[in-house]
This record gives sequence, structure tokens and C-alpha cells, in this order.
Amino acid sequence: MDILTVEDLSVEVSGRTILRDINFSIPEGEVHVLFGPNGSGKSSLIKTILGFPGYKVLSGSIFFKGKEITDMPTDERVKLGMGVAFQNPPAVRGVKLGEILKGMMRNREEVEKRIGNILKELNFPTDFLTRDVNLGFSGGETKKSEILQVLAQDADLTILDEPDSGVDVENLQVIGAVLSRRLKGKSVLLVTHLGYILRYIDADMAHVLMDGTIACSGSALKILGQILKEGYSWCEKCPRVKGLRCEVFL
Ligand SMILES: Nc1ncnc2c1ncn2[C@@H]1O[C@H](COP(=O)(O)OP(=O)(O)OP(=O)(O)O)[C@@H](O)[C@H]1O
Ligand SMILES: [Mg+2]
Repeated sequence: MDILTVEDLSVEVSGRTILRDINFSIPEGEVHVLFGPNGSGKSSLIKTILGFPGYKVLSGSIFFKGKEITDMPTDERVKLGMGVAFQNPPAVRGVKLGEILKGMMRNREEVEKRIGNILKELNFPTDFLTRDVNLGFSGGETKKSEILQVLAQDADLTILDEPDSGVDVENLQVIGAVLSRRLKGKSVLLVTHLGYILRYIDADMAHVLMDGTIACSGSALKILGQILKEGYSWCEKCPRVKGLRCEVFL
């Protein structure tokens, strides 16, 4: 069964169409990667899947666990089992990280044990739990805070928007090892630019977003290799962007 299906999706933000005719699905238990140049629409696609206000679906549908969620409010999607670690999460003044985490859990014992373990694995000091969410956190600390929250949630579909950007070599190893262990066998949608995190997470498939549309889909490592070798210019030439089939990866 597919955990997520996106069908013919077009999306408008502030009067501008930023996503066009997006089609892809993630079978349960698979890891799919989204590649694409800056501004191609990756984070917008994630926010649309989460149902953020302002991301207006012009046409198409989104299905999660077999249920149509295109018009469902964000909190219901989260309750249904979606979790996301954002690329640029906001700081939340007056709300402690520990309070947010407790809100996600069913019982106190579960909270303390699970969060305590993830904190240790992430090498993230417990005093962050008493700080306002992301307020004054460094870039790397913010990434860890997002990863802690999404892993604590233990969602049925985990969405990671650039978990490896702005993270130093040693912390990349730490984050990579934790994600690899905790997401084993789980359904994941992952955005990465340079693919560092793919040293730790085995991806089943990748999709390349170009100018708001999926230009091609195929093996994550093959596509990454091509992107690192030639940049996205090979993709700009792809006939698929003009509405035809990608000859390289399909
Ligand atoms: N809320 C918004 N208001 C106005 N424009 C928006 C909004 N959200 C996204 N956009 C625009 O949509 C386009 C796609 O942005 P998005 O953040 O999805 O790109 P991205 O592929 O995630 O890029 P990056 O790799 O830099 O993170 C950009 O031109 C962006 O300015
Ligand atoms: Mg982005």
C-alpha cells in the first residue's frame, strides 16, 4: 500500500503558481528523496502535504494512508501520523522545547524514556528542554531540535527537509546514525541538496523538482551522482520538463 500519493497537484502561493502537475507516491516503508535547485518548490511541496495555510491547492489530490487529505487541517494530518522536521523552523518565544515534546506523547513515562534516549543518541544536552523552542539555538542545534521532535513523534510518515544542511562533519555522523537506526523500515520523504545524509539512509527512489514540477524520478544514488557531476543543467535540458518522458532515469 502507498502511504502517500500526490496526484496532479498544482499549488498557488500569494497569487503565483509554484507547483504544477506533481505526481508521485511513496509505498509504505520506502524512503524517497526530493532533489531540486534552490527555489524549485521542495519546501512548498512539503508544506502543501502538511496542509499549511497559504498553500492553495488549485487542482489535484493528496492521499495519506488511503485517505484523501487534500482539504484536511494540518493538526488532523499530524494526528493521522505525519511528522516533519522543517528546513527553517521558527523560534517560539514562551514555549519550552520540553513542553512541545510532552504534548506529543501519550504518557509521562513514555515521554521521559523515549526523549531521554533520543537526546543521548543525538548528543544533545538535556538543558535544551528548558529553553524556548529554537530561540537562540545555533543552526546545528536547531537541526537537532527538529530531529528530536520528529523522532519523538514516531510518525507513520517522517518528512525531513534538509536535515544535513549547516551541520558539521561530526554532528552529521551523529544525526546520520540516529536517523538510520530510528527510521529503519519506516516511510520517509527526505530533501537533501548534497546527499550527505544518504551515506546513512538508504533511499529507494528520488524525484527531481525543477521549476515547480517533477522532471524525473529514479534511483537516488544515480540521480545524485548526475547532479553532483553536471549540476541541474542536465535536467533543464530534460524533455520531461517540457512535458515529455525523461530518457535518462525512467
Ligand atoms: N509563503 C510564500 N510566499 C511567497 N512565496 C513563496 C512562499 N513559499 C514559497 N514561495 C516561493 O516559492 C518558490 C519555491 O520555494 P521553496 O521554499 O519551496 O523552494 P525550495 O525548493 O525548498 O528551495 P531551497 O532549496 O532554497 O530550500 C520560491 O520562489 C519561493 O520564494
Ligand atoms: Mg527548501
